[in-house]
Amino acid sequence: MSGARFYLTTAIDYANGDPHQGHAYEKIGADAIARYQRLRGRQVRFCMGLDEHGQKVAQAAAANGITPQEQVDNIAARFEAMWARLCISNDRWIRTTQPHHRRGVKALIERIHARNPDDFYEKTYEGWYCVGCELFKREGEIVDGRCVLHPTRELQWTEERNWFFRLSKYQEFLRAHFDAHPDFLRPEARRNEMLALLDSGLEDISITRARLSWAIPFPLPSSDGETQGTWVWFDALPNYLTDTGYPDEGWEEWWPADLHVVGKDIVRLHAIIWPAMLQAAGLPLPRHVWGHGFVLLGGERFSKSSGVGAGLDLNEAIDRYGPDPFRYFLLREVPWDGDGNFSWERFAERYTSELANGLGNLASRTLSMVAKYRGGVTPSLEARPDAEVEKAVGGYVAAMDALRLHDGAAAAFGLVWHANAFVAETQPWIIAKDEARGAELDAALHAMVRYLAVVAVLFFPFMPEKMAALWRRVAGEREMPGIAALPTLDVAGWTMEPGDPLFPRPEPAKAGL
Ligand code: MSP
Repeated sequence: MSGARFYLTTAIDYANGDPHQGHAYEKIGADAIARYQRLRGRQVRFCMGLDEHGQKVAQAAAANGITPQEQVDNIAARFEAMWARLCISNDRWIRTTQPHHRRGVKALIERIHARNPDDFYEKTYEGWYCVGCELFKREGEIVDGRCVLHPTRELQWTEERNWFFRLSKYQEFLRAHFDAHPDFLRPEARRNEMLALLDSGLEDISITRARLSWAIPFPLPSSDGETQGTWVWFDALPNYLTDTGYPDEGWEEWWPADLHVVGKDIVRLHAIIWPAMLQAAGLPLPRHVWGHGFVLLGGERFSKSSGVGAGLDLNEAIDRYGPDPFRYFLLREVPWDGDGNFSWERFAERYTSELANGLGNLASRTLSMVAKYRGGVTPSLEARPDAEVEKAVGGYVAAMDALRLHDGAAAAFGLVWHANAFVAETQPWIIAKDEARGAELDAALHAMVRYLAVVAVLFFPFMPEKMAALWRRVAGEREMPGIAALPTLDVAGWTMEPGDPLFPRPEPAKAGL
């Protein structure tokens, strides 16, 4: 990933229900990436949105006794409020019912058709359709007559004449692309899955549904004269492109995207079908796709349709410790390249030991000692690099560049542990008793403030509100520096005041929830 610009996207969630921990995990992770990239000096475009067409949404509207438009408007407001609450810094928000998106999808399909007229053809198709996935399911994906991902939903036997996309034609192209760009799809496990799929052969896919009215009308006229509804995935995937303004002038300014962040269940759509669509249209492919794992509850994936997590309302879960600890916990506990469990025991442990006792304690002792011994002004010290800061920043950058967010958080934490150990060893409160050791005390306090300032920046992508507040306490009105400036950060003369604890202990009544 290079260059001054960075275009980042997440999956657009189905507008059939409220956001849950799984959706939140993806958006929080992507937000940490966006914030990190900004700290690296890049101009970031960060797009999220909602997937509003298709049977799944139409069925939810019917169940709620409202129109599909009312359904998506209600859900959009709830998603936007949740992302604001979690401090997600997306500057773009796309909804697939927006006119510019609908126009863009039509233009893309027409462009594919104009360049490769054989790529779309009509055929009668029969198969089991899962409305939960909005996908036709193959044999291995059906157990006891149900989709393995949506066991509470009935599969629909579907027999109809549809438009097909000649995906099979792009198999060799995709294989060559994967070979030439080993980091196109990461992590490695996801790449291996897709390579195996490519080697087993790609089948053409049905890309329209007859009688689907809650959809973008498929622009090509069918032989029976009926207009078909565009399959929801063929409509949703292009959101990444239409958000740049496609097909209107200026879209190339941001396309191709640098990174699509999506869950592992939809990697095939993003690493195979979407690139094939773009290639068919003669448009550049996204530079990278990342397939993260799942947040689990008791070993099972959070999911609305299977009811996992139904008793764990997202707003209530955030209430317990607040948005920033929630963000931190998810990203530290659930590795960005794998699955992880949500558990209140682990959350309580991490909150107490890492946030309250680790980071919170470092902040309060640093601020109060500078106040007590030096009237709140950080003493100056001959500028000299600190090996521990260099080590932590180096480890952090390596991890974050490789999108190992959990390792990035761990590297930042290494500096917190080191700083607390430094305070315990140096014992500034003992040095302070001896006036002859003034220079030693200056050096210790200076080092502590520097550790604290660096830690505030490194943790900013994970806990933006708390770290912005910490930064203000340490640095006042000074702008937060980029990562590159950290190893030589000079904190001399910075004035500060102690305040309330950054991570208060939860009240006993709350802790017993
Ligand atoms: N609408 C499609 C995506 C279209 S993108 C062009 C969709 N929506 S979804 O609401 O089902 O899922 C949205 C994202 O949330 C996906 O990336 C999915 O993997 C992610 N998650 C849903 N449940 C999850 C967990 N329990 N854990 C982590 N992320 C999971 O798919």
